[in-house]
Amino acid sequence: MASTAPVLTELDRVARRLLIGWAGEIGATVSIDAAANLWLRRNGTDPDAAPVVTGSHMDTQPNGGRFDGIYGVIAGLEAMTALHEEGGALRRPLEVVAWTNEEGGRFAPGCMGSMSWSGYRRVEDFADATDPDGIRFADALAAQLAAEADLPHRPLGNRPHAYVEAHIEQGPRLEAEGRDIGVVTGIQGSRFFTVTLTGDTAHAGTTPLALRRDAVQDMLRAITALNALMHDPQDVLRFTVGRIVVEPNTSNSVANRASFTIDFRHPDKNVLLARGDAIADVVQAAVRDAGVTVQETFHALPVAFSPQVIDAVERAAIDQGSSHMRLPSGAFHDAQFVVPVCPTGMVFVPCRKGISHNPAEYSEPRHLTAGTKVLAQTLAELAA
Ligand code: HGY
Ligand code: MN
Ligand code: MN
Repeated sequence: MASTAPVLTELDRVARRLLIGWAGEIGATVSIDAAANLWLRRNGTDPDAAPVVTGSHMDTQPNGGRFDGIYGVIAGLEAMTALHEEGGALRRPLEVVAWTNEEGGRFAPGCMGSMSWSGYRRVEDFADATDPDGIRFADALAAQLAAEADLPHRPLGNRPHAYVEAHIEQGPRLEAEGRDIGVVTGIQGSRFFTVTLTGDTAHAGTTPLALRRDAVQDMLRAITALNALMHDPQDVLRFTVGRIVVEPNTSNSVANRASFTIDFRHPDKNVLLARGDAIADVVQAAVRDAGVTVQETFHALPVAFSPQVIDAVERAAIDQGSSHMRLPSGAFHDAQFVVPVCPTGMVFVPCRKGISHNPAEYSEPRHLTAGTKVLAQTLAELAA
């Protein structure tokens, strides 16, 4: 069985049904919202109190790993189960959420579920995002909601008391520093763009280069210019061209269309804005023959997590004798869009060599367990 389950696929549905089954075993109620975010809930002694929420995402990158996202959902369910079996009644309801399309690997951008839930964007905004087979997000979402029509619906958006997400670090620091728990302080900013160059297709054998409007050659000029714009001797800035689409994509025709994605990230809001805002002009100046459009497809400024939640995570790690350190997240997460809604934080666990978005992604059971225990204690404290 493939280890990867891109969003709203049959494998994603199977994973969700497994989760629904396990939730039922501990008497948790299940519901979905209009973005197909999947919610598990156990009431506390005060069912009207704002809930404490945990969770993450179950969808993976097309060639992803077996821990990114899914760990946080399973850790949340495990924490809910342990707190249930412990018998001590929490005052607040506890909810575990599986967010829709955090990865954006099939339908870009990512975080559609959490952005729709938080009101940062509307779920309708994503309707026409298409996957490589030309399927629209709206149609895949409708199919998912139809396949889960047996589940009760809940409105998009609610105001939790607090949100804590467990996740693998997806970077090398915890392993390098020999720490078992990451007390996450915030998430760096991310800006995604799609650049499209439009030239003329032509015969590769007969057309003089001087007469060509070659979209691929201008794409290379644009990327070279962007590499210069994004140069950072400190290697803090992250700039990635991860997806290129060329048409007609044959060896003996000059390309009349080329598009490429930009994934640009930085922890400093000013750098993110200044260099991100310069992208369009730099590309325009570099392109020689083709027409060019630059479209921003994702814009998430750096966020700082709540001291209340950061301290609660740190206290739990200390209580449990887990080595720990504070660190920011290089990867984005759904938590980024929960920050404006309620006090938010994250618990990281190490992953081998920081490898992620790769089938070799791995985290040791002892680390996954320690992270789940810290999560459970943090949730219990926040729900008291
Ligand atoms: O791309 C990210 O940062 C996240 O892992 N989807
Ligand atoms: Mn993730
Ligand atoms: Mn990911």
